Amino acid sequence: MSTLKTKVLGIEFENPFLLASAPPTASIESIDKAFEMGWGGAVLKTITPDDLEMVEASPRYATIKHNGKVICLQNIELLSHETVQYWIDGIKYLKEKHPTKVIIASIMAPVEREEWQKLVKTLNETPIDAYELNFSCPHGMPERNIGMAIGTSAEISILITSWVKSVATKPVFVKLTPNVTDITWIANAVERAGADGFAAINTVQSFMGINLDTLDPVLNIDGHSTYGGLSGEAVRPIGFRCVSQLRQKSDLPILGMGGISTWEDAAQYIALGSDAVQVCTEVMINGYGIINGLKSGLLNYLESKGFNDISELKDIGARKITSHEGLNKKSHLYPTIDKEKCVACGKCVKICSESEYNALGVNDNKNAICLDKEKCAGCSLCSHVCPKEAIKMC
Ligand SMILES: Cc1cc2nc3c(=O)[nH]c(=O)nc-3n(C[C@H](O)[C@H](O)[C@H](O)COP(=O)(O)O)c2cc1C
Repeated sequence: MSTLKTKVLGIEFENPFLLASAPPTASIESIDKAFEMGWGGAVLKTITPDDLEMVEASPRYATIKHNGKVICLQNIELLSHETVQYWIDGIKYLKEKHPTKVIIASIMAPVEREEWQKLVKTLNETPIDAYELNFSCPHGMPERNIGMAIGTSAEISILITSWVKSVATKPVFVKLTPNVTDITWIANAVERAGADGFAAINTVQSFMGINLDTLDPVLNIDGHSTYGGLSGEAVRPIGFRCVSQLRQKSDLPILGMGGISTWEDAAQYIALGSDAVQVCTEVMINGYGIINGLKSGLLNYLESKGFNDISELKDIGARKITSHEGLNKKSHLYPTIDKEKCVACGKCVKICSESEYNALGVNDNKNAICLDKEKCAGCSLCSHVCPKEAIKMC
C-alpha cells in the first residue's frame, strides 16, 4: 500500500499538497476550511511588519484563456493586509484545531536586520513548522527595494538569510524568483548563508498587453498599468526548469510550484526534484475541492508504479536532464503517418517546406502524405502541427 505521507526537514506531512502563499491563505477562516477539505498544509499569505503599508490597485488581475479555460493569470496583488498579531492568534488556533497540518509562515520586511529579526523572533513563539522568506514578489515590492529586489541580488539574499537563520528556531525555506538569468546562483548563495530549503517558483514578471480599441492596457487601472506576476498553467515549464536546475545543483529540500493544476503536474514536480508541492492559481480558479483529485490521482499513480511513497519518485526526472552536448545526437526519429487519421490536408507538407527541410509531400492522387527520409531531420514539427494528430515520431 502506497502512502502520501512524507517528511521534509523533520516536518511530517500527511500529504505533499500545500496551499501556496496567496489569496487562498490570506485568512484564518479560509485556511481552516482548506484543512477540513484535506490540504496537507498552507504557506500563509506573506506577513510583513505592521507599519509596511499595503495599498492595493483595482482591478488587480488579468487572464489569458484558451477554450474558455484560464491558462494564465497575471496579478499585481501585494502582501497580507492582516497584522502580525492576527497571524499569531490565527496560527495558534489553526494548530490546535489541526495539529497534523503543516503551517509555514511566509515573511518579508525592509532590508534592515532589526525588522527581519523582530518578525522572526515574534513568530518563533508560535507553533509554525517553518519559515518561507519571500525574496521573490515581482511587483510593487521591488520599487520599495524588497520582494524580487532581494532575490535578484545574491549579496542582499545572503545578508537576510543569515540574519534570519541566526534567530530562527524553525527551518527556513527561501522562495526564489524565476526572474533571474540563473536561479541556481541565488540558491547556492542562500544555501551558503544557511538556508534549509528552497521554494520555487514565485510568479514570472509579465505584461498582459494593450487593448487595441481603447489603447489602454489590458490590466487597466484608470488608464495606466504596471508589470505583474504571471502564474498558472502557462508558467509550468518555467517552474519545471527552475526546480530541476535547483535539484541538479543542491541536495536541499524543494517546495515546488508554478502551474500545478492536476496530480500529473504535481507528480512531475516531484520527479524533477520537489519534496512537496504548492498550489495557488488552480485553487483561485476552481476552489479548495481540487485537493480530492490531486490526492487520489497521485496515490493511485504511486500504487500503479509500485512506489511506497513520493521519495521513490523524487529526482528521477531531474537525473535525466543533461546539457545539449550531452544528448545522444545519433538518435533519429522519423514521422510515421496513421493512414486512418490522415486526411492529406497538406498542413505538414507546407510547414515542413516553409520551416527548413521540405521532406514531406502529397502523393500524385493527392490522398496521402509521403516522406523523403533523406531530407528529414527528424525535428518532429509536423507531428505537432497536424490537426488530426495523425503523425507520430518513431
Ligand atoms: C494573486 C496572487 C497573490 C500572490 N501572493 C503571494 C504572496 O503574498 N507571497 C508569495 O510568496 N507568493 C505569492 N504569490 C505567488 C504564489 O505563491 C505562487 O508562487 C505562484 O502563483 C505560482 O504558483 P501557481 O502557478 O500555482 O499560482 C501570489 C500569487 C498570486 C496569483
